[in-house]
Amino acid sequence: MTRTLIRGGLVITAAEETSADVLVEDGRIAALAAHGSACAESWTAERTIDATGKYVVPGGVDAHTHFDLPFGGTASSDTFATGTRAAAWGGTTTVVDFAVQQRGGALREGLDTWHAKAEGQCAIDYAFHMILSDVNEATLKEMDHLVSEGCTSFKLFMAYPGVFYSDDGQILRAMQRAAANGGLIMMHAENGIAIDVLVEQALAAGRTDPRYHGEVRRALLEAEATHRAIALARVAGSPLYVVHVSAQEAVAELARARAMDLPVFGETCPQYLFLSSDRLAEPGFEGAKYVCSTPLRPEEHQAALWRALRTDDLQVVSTDHCPFCFSGQKELGRGDFSKIPNGLPGVEHRMDLLHQAVVEGRITRRRWIELACAAPARMFGLAPRKGTLAPGADADVVVYDPHARQTLSAATHHMNVDYSVYEGKQITGRVETVLSRGEVVLDRGTFTGRAGHGRYLPRATCQYVM
Ligand code: URP
Ligand code: ZN
Ligand code: ZN
Ligand code: ZN
Repeated sequence: MTRTLIRGGLVITAAEETSADVLVEDGRIAALAAHGSACAESWTAERTIDATGKYVVPGGVDAHTHFDLPFGGTASSDTFATGTRAAAWGGTTTVVDFAVQQRGGALREGLDTWHAKAEGQCAIDYAFHMILSDVNEATLKEMDHLVSEGCTSFKLFMAYPGVFYSDDGQILRAMQRAAANGGLIMMHAENGIAIDVLVEQALAAGRTDPRYHGEVRRALLEAEATHRAIALARVAGSPLYVVHVSAQEAVAELARARAMDLPVFGETCPQYLFLSSDRLAEPGFEGAKYVCSTPLRPEEHQAALWRALRTDDLQVVSTDHCPFCFSGQKELGRGDFSKIPNGLPGVEHRMDLLHQAVVEGRITRRRWIELACAAPARMFGLAPRKGTLAPGADADVVVYDPHARQTLSAATHHMNVDYSVYEGKQITGRVETVLSRGEVVLDRGTFTGRAGHGRYLPRATCQYVM
């Protein structure tokens, strides 16, 4: 039996803040007790971590990553090895990545492929969602098997015709199946058919720069798709989780549905909270660094996203980490913005950026933990093992220094990508020490983890309550 003791910190969960010591035994939280109490004073351990003046929080759960994703004629530049290591540096101890069904292929093949990519490579625990890119009778049957073996959520795309796109009939069928088997449908909500018309018109008019990526992917087309997805989910009687929400008009659709008590949920990502579409217009093709879908929006959308995070109209902040190097990857779209691989790096910085939001008074400390740890764990069937600090939970623990200052930069980050969308951004707060199932994987600025420590997590169905 190995024991670690984390002494003297402010323990923050989504539910409470207490000055407590945390006893870790064999990879799990064994007990918490008030700092200085007779109980806590009686504990002994092989290792004691002094958390005086620090926060002690659950490891982050990032429910939206794309490691080694073939996309846009290339593949995202972080592997499971480099991506999970960068996640650990940033205080994230669980990722849920997206396995992909090939068109004409089986879900099983896609899942096997992703298991092979991840097996033995991960520094932290991991699970999979499944991207459905070919909904047919066989796919629908396979969904049941996947749910029963712990891959309990399925992403569908209303965007990317010819690649991942599903039509409304396919979406409705998948939602009906999910309603029956307990799976959760995750939706990329953008009207891709209409967007492709606008792309073609923009290119024909010589508008080829990255900024037109943002202009053709209109906020109204995100809102329309969000509305349609909600309507289809209502017809099917299934819950719905809308990924990477960026437009205030889409937030309004989610809020309207939730006001009707519909089981409709949404996530946004740090890039939509901290960056705006101005970035897409940066000169010298630099705008390509900010190309992702849904796109970055004009700054006025950010207030609606922050408000929705406070009012629970959005429940989760994930990264949608999908990095492509500027050199050789983003550059594929020089002269044609539609060929720029879509996606931004971010898995390392989510906990810090949300802590910065705490510092700025946008969200409370408990809301930080709810959005980054507890809610994604419940939403994707990982609670109560993940997302909280309580007896019996996995000892995925972050000692966070709320006063340290850092400057985000590609020169110092650990993601395998040659630029940072947050280059030069100052953050108050920093991850100091990270435990994954009781093992110290980051020790005051030294990475002590290893590829292969991370385990695959079969998941329960959605545990989130309205
Ligand atoms: O631009 C993005 N978001 N790339 C990743 C794929 C997706 O749609 O989530
Ligand atoms: Zn998407
Ligand atoms: Zn994504
Ligand atoms: Zn780097």
